[in-house]
Amino acid sequence: MKSVLTGDDSMVPYMEVPLSIPNICGNEWKYVRECLDTNWVSYVGSYVDKFEDIVGDYVGAKYAAATMSGTAALHTALLVAEVEPDDEVLVSALSFIAPANAIRYVGAYPVFIDSEDDYWQMDPEKVVDFLETKCRWSRGALYNKSSGRRIKAILPVHILGHPVDMSPILDIAKKYELVIIEDAAESLGAKYKGEHVGHLGDIGCFSFNGNKVITCGGGGMIVTDNEVWAHKAKHLTTQAKVDSLEYIHNDIGYNYRMTNIQAAIGVAQMEELDNFIKRKRQIAVAYTEGLSNLSDFVLMSESESAFSTYWLYTIVLKQSESKSNSRDLISLLQDRGIQSRPLWYPLHLQETYQDCEYYGIDCAHRLHALAVQLPSSSGITDQEIEHVVSSLQMLCAE
Ligand SMILES: Cc1ncc(COP(=O)(O)O)c(C=O)c1O
Repeated sequence: MKSVLTGDDSMVPYMEVPLSIPNICGNEWKYVRECLDTNWVSYVGSYVDKFEDIVGDYVGAKYAAATMSGTAALHTALLVAEVEPDDEVLVSALSFIAPANAIRYVGAYPVFIDSEDDYWQMDPEKVVDFLETKCRWSRGALYNKSSGRRIKAILPVHILGHPVDMSPILDIAKKYELVIIEDAAESLGAKYKGEHVGHLGDIGCFSFNGNKVITCGGGGMIVTDNEVWAHKAKHLTTQAKVDSLEYIHNDIGYNYRMTNIQAAIGVAQMEELDNFIKRKRQIAVAYTEGLSNLSDFVLMSESESAFSTYWLYTIVLKQSESKSNSRDLISLLQDRGIQSRPLWYPLHLQETYQDCEYYGIDCAHRLHALAVQLPSSSGITDQEIEHVVSSLQMLCAE
């Protein structure tokens, strides 16, 4: 830690506190060394199988297929669920862009749904409302009345480590025979009514990139109880090869495989996952306690039916609807060495998605303008948390 002069000439502590960085603290070196020493560095190897088994068991799914990224997992999940060109898929408007892109990879179209106010997840009331009022059942399928396209699936994104309120979404999906593909990239370990996210719908996807609760460097996973889909996922992600000797392929496959080295890191990280989540929940308590006296923010919380991992602790500015306030706060925190970020630019406003349908969007706009994600690495120290808290206290007092 060093000291820097602020504009008002007072001394404030200066630290580099990153938003969310990997925590390499267990058997990662040992397992990776084993891969290197044995030459099992590429797409097959015991760690890939082990990692699939561990993640599948952890979330309670019968099958798991590792992929090179969370985005590849989403693309593959949409393919195995037979989402077809010109279908429509309901997806959260407030999310990282990957799920919307994956919908377009298969030629389908996203319909963007707003977030709810309390936990900032896909709003289940708006999902139900859209399906009940804007769609009609005809010839054994549900069609969007305005576009004429078939609604094939719902893709809820469990953002920030907290689950979407899934019961109404599961019920309506059952009623209209829609597939549920969960994007649980940010929420490994989170639970809804005691069940792991990713294993609430028909197929779930995780990401293990560098900012997630565990990392493989990069990587993803598909989990499902559907044996046919699980085999198809493995098949498509391994170039749709049907003969292990001859180069014979029966479909357009992809090289979406995870390497044994990535999986070795993943296995070591899974050994630490419960500790990481415990720490993330402690970080959330520390922020909540440290900031609760400030009237400037709405603080992140957990619904009664949820077990949140608090992947990225987020606060929402109250005092003004002006976006500049949150961006000013981010920049003032940066001056104190603290990395913070806004939530994502709502997907229906992105250049590539401006022609796509969106429904009931209100909360997502406000959250984009006013939310600030705070440093939440599982390796953050108490002193660093205190630095973030005291900086926010100081900035709010100014
Ligand atoms: C909600 C969400 N979905 C999908 C992804 C994509 O994962 P990956 O970066 O592993 O492709 C991410 C992460 O970056 C994400 O946050």
